Amino acid sequence: MIKTWLTKKLGIKHPVIQGAMGPYSTNKLCAAVANAGGLGVISLIGMGVQHSEATPVDPTLVFGPGTTEEYVARSLEFVKKETAASGGVFGVNCPVSLEFMDAAKLLVGSVFAEREKDPDLQKRLRVIITSAGDPVPWAEHIRKTDMIWFHVVPSIYHASRADKAGVDAIIASGHEGGAHISWQPVHSMVLIPGVVEATKRPVIAAGGFCDGRTLAAALALGAVGVQMGTRFIATRECDFWDVWKQGVVRGSDRDTLVGRGMFGPMRFIKNDMSEQLVDKTTELVPEFFKGLPVDLAPEILEIEKQGFANLVNDDPQGSLILGGEACGRIKDMPAVCDLMDSLISQAEIILKALPDFVA
Ligand SMILES: Cc1cc2nc3c(=O)[nH]c(=O)nc-3n(C[C@H](O)[C@H](O)[C@H](O)COP(=O)(O)O)c2cc1C
Repeated sequence: MIKTWLTKKLGIKHPVIQGAMGPYSTNKLCAAVANAGGLGVISLIGMGVQHSEATPVDPTLVFGPGTTEEYVARSLEFVKKETAASGGVFGVNCPVSLEFMDAAKLLVGSVFAEREKDPDLQKRLRVIITSAGDPVPWAEHIRKTDMIWFHVVPSIYHASRADKAGVDAIIASGHEGGAHISWQPVHSMVLIPGVVEATKRPVIAAGGFCDGRTLAAALALGAVGVQMGTRFIATRECDFWDVWKQGVVRGSDRDTLVGRGMFGPMRFIKNDMSEQLVDKTTELVPEFFKGLPVDLAPEILEIEKQGFANLVNDDPQGSLILGGEACGRIKDMPAVCDLMDSLISQAEIILKALPDFVA
């Protein structure tokens, strides 16, 4: 067993959080991770895309017909039911970037409303994770509830905003990570100890963490646990299409690239489609690669639309497959409970051996 602030605060077995992976559903994955003793997380963003022009992804692709409030209610009910036997603990994630603000207010409001009605949900839906925006304006709203609040940051500057907001813990997410990353690259080895030293709040490490070796490293860097996205894609229970899971398993350490995404840069697995996206971005909006915000060029949007639509067609080269550098270290597709057991055992072995290095 590895006990940290994170396991004690949430009453979970392992200091491992499943990263939100919107705009797609992570409901099944969330339940599997909660049942395996980690913190499962429901990704809310896809349930609110119709309220935001910043997320041009067809929500019906995953959630079917319905309103945002209905998607939220159905998802919470599903995870609650699937985790009833284990008593697993779970959370929700909502990006709070300016472009997504109307949708974010509706999503978070819907979660609070569902939770209000249901004492069982209050006991097990314990955590709200905000990301991709400024947490300070959310403090008043979130602090009216008894939810534990984490905010995701890509730099020490952003950690100071999370500090000011008064979050319970900071998730520091390095540039290695899958999907959205920051304009200015700060990788985990610099970011995590930097945030640990800059704040008195507990820090959770994200971006490149995928096994016991990296969990042990996160603890050595001063973190109280890890959040993993890419590793959890390649699991049996992940809700994603097989072409996506296989894309992660097949990727080597040099098989990701950074292209334009909904709120800024995103990390993709390298294939024909993501290379085309990067080539078009280089041609039409080269300032993007200097870390400058750019307008949405219609040709680039079309590649994105086609690339995401092709996921459904099981097209390994024509799909846009989001994933992090950790794909180079992921070679299997285990059940979540087996992954968690092996990850914790490996970390325990490494941590127990460390004192031998001290003369
Ligand atoms: C496909 C995908 C979608 C993601 N969507 C979200 C999201 O909706 N909200 C969020 O806060 N983070 C999102 N993330 C980031 C993850 O929650 C996590 O922090 C990140 O994957 C950690 O890095 P790793 O991929 O190296 O494990 C996403 C990551 C991936 C791979």
